[in-house]
Formats: sequence, C-alpha cells, structure tokens
Amino acid sequence: MVRYQDLGLSNTREMFKKAMAGGYAIPAYNFNNLEQLQAIIQGCIQSRSPVILQISKGARQYANQTLLRYMAEGAMKVVKESGVLIPVALHLDHGDTYELCVSCIESGFSSVMIDGSAHPYAENVALTRKVVEFAHKHDVTVEGELGVLAGIEDEVSHKSSNYTNPDDVEDFVKKTGVDSLAISIGTSHGAYKFKVKPGEQPPPLRFDILEEIERRIPGFPIVLHGASSVLPEYVAIINKFGGKMEGAVGVSEEQLRRAAKSAVCKVNIDSDGRLVVTAMIRKVFAENPKEFDPRKYLGPARDELTKLIVRKNKEVLGSADRV
Ligand code: G3H
Ligand code: 13P
Ligand code: ZN
Repeated sequence: MVRYQDLGLSNTREMFKKAMAGGYAIPAYNFNNLEQLQAIIQGCIQSRSPVILQISKGARQYANQTLLRYMAEGAMKVVKESGVLIPVALHLDHGDTYELCVSCIESGFSSVMIDGSAHPYAENVALTRKVVEFAHKHDVTVEGELGVLAGIEDEVSHKSSNYTNPDDVEDFVKKTGVDSLAISIGTSHGAYKFKVKPGEQPPPLRFDILEEIERRIPGFPIVLHGASSVLPEYVAIINKFGGKMEGAVGVSEEQLRRAAKSAVCKVNIDSDGRLVVTAMIRKVFAENPKEFDPRKYLGPARDELTKLIVRKNKEVLGSADRV
C-alpha cells in the first residue's frame, strides 16, 4: 500500500472548502503522457494554482498504471523543487468498479471518482457507499455522480443525457457519504457538445438545476464534467492544417466563470488539452514536413498547453494565486 500522504499529495477536502469560500473552482486536468503532465504542472506552478491531476481507466491502460503513478510522484518532486508549494491531488476519473477504485487508492491516489451514474439509483448508491467506506479508511476523498452526460469519449459514452434530479441529491449524499457530487446540467464529454448552426450560440447550461441542487445541499462541493470550451482558435488551426473538425463546439468561458463562482468546486478539462496538442503538432508537420524529432513537435504542443492552462486558471476558473 502506497500512502498518498507520503508522496506529498493532498486529498480534495481542503481544496474544495477553500474554493467554495473563495468563489472559484479547482481545475481537474487529465493526463496520459509526459508532455501533458509537464504542461499541467508548469502551468499550475506559474499561475500558483491548486490542481487535480486526473487519470482515467483508459489512461491507465494506455500508459501503464505503474508508470503513470510514478510520473505523478515525480511531478510532486518538481513542485517541491519549484518552491511554489501548490496543493496537488491525484484523482481517478470515471472509476467504474469498486476494484478499480481500491487499486488506485492502494497505489497512492488521494481521490477517486466512482461513476455509478449509468446504474439504477439504488445500485449507484450501494456501489458508491462501498467505495466511500474503503476510501475514507485511508482519508481518500470520493466523487460520486448523479445524472447522465451525453457525449462520446473512449471509455465514457452515453447516447443521451438526463439532467440530475434535484430531488435525489440530498438522499444520495446522505446515504453514500461522498465528498463531492458530479452533476448533469447540459455539458457533455468530447469536442462536439452542442449541435448549432453557423452563427448560432449553444444553449446555456441549466443553472436553474444547479441552483436548486445548491438549495437542497447547501455548501456541498459540486463537480462539472465535460467542461472544455473547445476554443475556436485551436479548431481553426486543426482544420487549416489538414484536420476535419467542423461543428466542434464547447461550453463558453462566460458560462464556466459563472459556474466557478457557484458551488461548482471542480471543473474537468480534457478535450481542450487534446485540441491544443493536435493543433500544434499538425502545424509543425505542415510547416516542417522534414521534421522527425518528437521533441520538435511535442515541445511546441506542450508549451502551448502550458499557456492555455495558465490562462484558464487565471481568467476562467479563478484558481490562480490561491496557494
Ligand atoms: O471524461 C473522460 C475523460 O476525458 C477521459 O477520457 O477515457 O478517453 O481517457 P478517456
Ligand atoms: P471534456 O471532454 O469537456 O474535456 O470533459 C472532460 C471530463 O469530464 C473528464 O472527466
Ligand atoms: Zn468526465
């Protein structure tokens, strides 16, 4: 058993308490490889922001779970060396079984998500409760989910969404003992979140549902999945240099700013990072077709991703300068 406390990691309890009081949200960025991790850590050190490093089941399969765990441990050493002691949580994103959550906790994760949202309510409660019982013995925090997000992503795929029912949240939180709750208010995973005609704005998120949830469980940390903005400048670079991502659209930064000031304490961002990396690599290859040193295309991708992370923390989530 590796204790996350021995690695210098934090669980999310204190992070969320401060975020709730301060009216900002903690960024949760996914990583699968070295360059993404470098960008997240450097971006959060530069902007002096607490951060949640997220690893999905798919990331563990892609990069090897042991290697990823040691990468996160290495990232903590880099944080210490920088002298800017940002709190860092290592979090399992969309854990789908009790066994996966236990395996992550035993290998040094400080936080896990058990996503039972696809199960009937009673099964979701029972599964989440079981994970909480194990996690809390080790002071690991747990995120549960109620409601289903639409969207298509490798390991997270639902054909249609159903919004979180505010009538369920109090009972779910009480019965399961979770530390935070992911909800469905109109976001979805991936780069095609809304179907809009050219020139049209995507529909607003269901802030009325969020407000009702806040009324039912005051002061309880809420999590927003599927919160990438799918920035048009990066989609344009992708399309300019041979890509084909017409119709890609995300959640506006204005909506995210509003959410970050509410009980939303954690905002999940994966697709935006993927888009930046893809845009920069396509650009380098188009402009330098003879290039074959991975550092020459992964390096610019990493540097642009670092800039994006600094800007999100400072200008969208409000998590900069909170250490
Ligand atoms: O919500 C899902 C995350 O973006 C992780 O995606 O399962 O393709 O690693 P993944
Ligand atoms: P995006 O696809 O909007 O980046 O959402 C990521 C996410 O919710 C990870 O759990
Ligand atoms: Zn998600």
